Amino acid sequence: MSQMPYTFFGSTGMEVSRLCLGAMTFGTKGLAEVEACERVLDEGLAAGVNFIDTADSYGRSEEILGQVLDPPKREQIYLATKIYARHCRAGRVARNSRTNILNSLERSLRLLRTSYVDLYMLHHPDPHTPLDETMQTLDQVVRQGKVRYVGVSNHYAWQIGYMLGRASGLGLVPPVSLQANYNLIDRQIERETVPLLERFNLGLMCYSPLSAGILTGKFHTDEAVDAQARAAVAGPYVQRAKDETVARIVRRSREIADQLGLKLNQLAIQWLLSKPYVSTVILGGSRPEHYAALYQTVERVLPEQVVLELDDLSAARVDGLHLNQPIRNGFGLAPGR
Ligand SMILES: NC(=O)c1ccc[n+]([C@@H]2O[C@H](COP(=O)([O-])OP(=O)(O)OC[C@H]3O[C@@H](n4cnc5c(N)ncnc54)[C@H](OP(=O)(O)O)[C@@H]3O)[C@@H](O)[C@H]2O)c1
Repeated sequence: MSQMPYTFFGSTGMEVSRLCLGAMTFGTKGLAEVEACERVLDEGLAAGVNFIDTADSYGRSEEILGQVLDPPKREQIYLATKIYARHCRAGRVARNSRTNILNSLERSLRLLRTSYVDLYMLHHPDPHTPLDETMQTLDQVVRQGKVRYVGVSNHYAWQIGYMLGRASGLGLVPPVSLQANYNLIDRQIERETVPLLERFNLGLMCYSPLSAGILTGKFHTDEAVDAQARAAVAGPYVQRAKDETVARIVRRSREIADQLGLKLNQLAIQWLLSKPYVSTVILGGSRPEHYAALYQTVERVLPEQVVLELDDLSAARVDGLHLNQPIRNGFGLAPGR
């Protein structure tokens, strides 16, 4: 078993594993049973994972984590969750409003069976709520001890920069991190976001490191793919799996992986870990065995020329559309989500 590397998360005192356990799929498919989720958790802890990611919108995820994280395990890990779902007032509430944040945080703490979370993130920006109200509420829950640090997800660089400025001006806690879609075929954050993160020493959690499964290579073989695979059914990924540039990246990356004795998914994760601005890579899976193989190579450092070749191979993907990022000034999600 490879030794897990750790790093300080941005400017915080949290020293986190460079692989984070993504619990979005807990309660679904091959992780429908609590026992399967517990196995994933225990294997992650045994491999040195000390960072877990969930959200108030991930179905039964928080509830299952609450069941499997007994007090000693809870104290072993940094636990991160997010706010965006509208669980109160019959959904007649702005997502990042004081009402929704306070209600959702209490719900998350109850489901997770804990008195605090280590990192509490805005899952998306909310154009309906004045930013100062959101930030004052987040400041309040940090002062109450219910939240240790505040972060954001799916925000543009300018939105984070503005938040840092408001926090400084108003004496409120600033965001310490960004959680963003980042992988070998989704490199948009490199243009503006990464320079901002580096300038202000913010942590970066990369989600969808395999672009929802495309970087396993399973959409680019002759074998039939499970018709329920996420990238076969989830809107933005379906076209992506058929895109000719993506196909070229997947094929060449698989050749490189073969030469190095790695699987494509392992190479994709190691490419992310080669980036010094990446704090942690959030692993996903729809079956317990999807996680374990990724711990085995975590210590492996890719040769510099391999990193450069991969950088070049997918350079054209730096300028694509942001996936699951706000379209303009707010969010691009379907109404009602
Ligand atoms: N902040 C946000 O907006 C946001 C958004 C998304 C995710 N996240 C976080 O990031 C975590 C990881 O994201 P992700 O689930 O999108 O990660 P990912 O690694 O890009 O995709 C994981 C999916 O790929 C497929 N897969 C993975 N390994 C496989 C293997 N060995 N063989 C075949 N298929 C395999 C599975 O889906 P199928 O079996 O269905 O193909 C699995 O659920 C989540 O758990 C969540 O915590 C955050």
